[in-house]
Amino acid sequence: MNDIITLGIESSCDETSAAIILNGREILSNIISSQIDIHKKFGGVVPEVASRKHVEVISNVINEAVKEANIKLNDVNLVASTYGPGLVGALLVGLSAAKGIAMSLNKPFIGVNHIEGHICANYIAHKELEPPFTCLVVSGGHTHLIYVKDYGEYEILGRTRDDAAGEAYDKIARAIGLGYPGGPLIDKLAKEGNKFAIEFPKVYLEDDSFDFSFSGLKSAVLNYLNKMNMQGQEINKADVAASFQQAVIEVLVNKAVKAAKFNKTDKLCLAGGVASNSALREELVKQCRKEGISLFYPPAVLCTDNAAMIACCGYYEYIKGRTSAFSLNAVPSLKI
Ligand code: KG4
Ligand code: ZN
Repeated sequence: MNDIITLGIESSCDETSAAIILNGREILSNIISSQIDIHKKFGGVVPEVASRKHVEVISNVINEAVKEANIKLNDVNLVASTYGPGLVGALLVGLSAAKGIAMSLNKPFIGVNHIEGHICANYIAHKELEPPFTCLVVSGGHTHLIYVKDYGEYEILGRTRDDAAGEAYDKIARAIGLGYPGGPLIDKLAKEGNKFAIEFPKVYLEDDSFDFSFSGLKSAVLNYLNKMNMQGQEINKADVAASFQQAVIEVLVNKAVKAAKFNKTDKLCLAGGVASNSALREELVKQCRKEGISLFYPPAVLCTDNAAMIACCGYYEYIKGRTSAFSLNAVPSLKI
């Protein structure tokens, strides 16, 4: 088969990214322009600001990706872009750019589901990885346990019933006065704390359920902080961070390992922004070793939002014979 060069574009939230990928798994370039510094002062992503910033930088980001890959735009065989889930205005920027480029080059275009993209980051990081496997997707907007039957074929085992894991991290970080995004800050601070200092609830739901729920834990942490404040007691932020993180991780790890065993797969993948959490990785390494499960996770740069994972996902869709119509619209609440 001839080489296939894919241009991937991602703009679903606060990262504008463009990547050039060779044959699905080889990164020629992966440019990421983050808006974190802009949204930081608001304590979270402001959708309208995000869209405007995407518009401002998208052309440069794409040009840079093409330049760094040492190709010409005309060498691109396929254009892939996230079309959901995400912020509608933000999604439309990347999607419109992708459709415009594909149309002008007369090349196929394919819309990619952002959550599928996160899973595909593992294919780039681990060249030998093939489905089937079990995947725990933990990001700012999503928490899913998924059985990946084949490329592009998924069975959802469980999902969060309320907050996503990353969302819980961000909310607790805000409550204890850390910045945005809270995940990496809690990860760092927790290393200085005692994870057994405060007993926060670990929510498993029904015995056979692979669903998650983090809103009760969030309330428990907020109640604890209020109580301490009212009693005029000093709050040990590192202990709060460590104990909160322990409550999240224990549930994620136990359910993910249980799901891998349930699926009779000896491969477990981690994906999404929270997948770069050091304590989660450490605990999963330990548990997977005990259970004889091979654990895969992408490097941090491929865990958070990036266009390389979108290009990879688009490539495998294309190989299966799928392309999208130019009439494809952004779908903010797209499901996997
Ligand atoms: O995948 P992502 O970049 O965006 C979404 O698709 O949502 O994930 C961002 C989320 C944020 O909630 C951020 O706080 C969290 O990932 N995150 C982490 C870490 N790094 C990023 N959470 C815990 N520990 C980390 N080291
Ligand atoms: Zn994401």
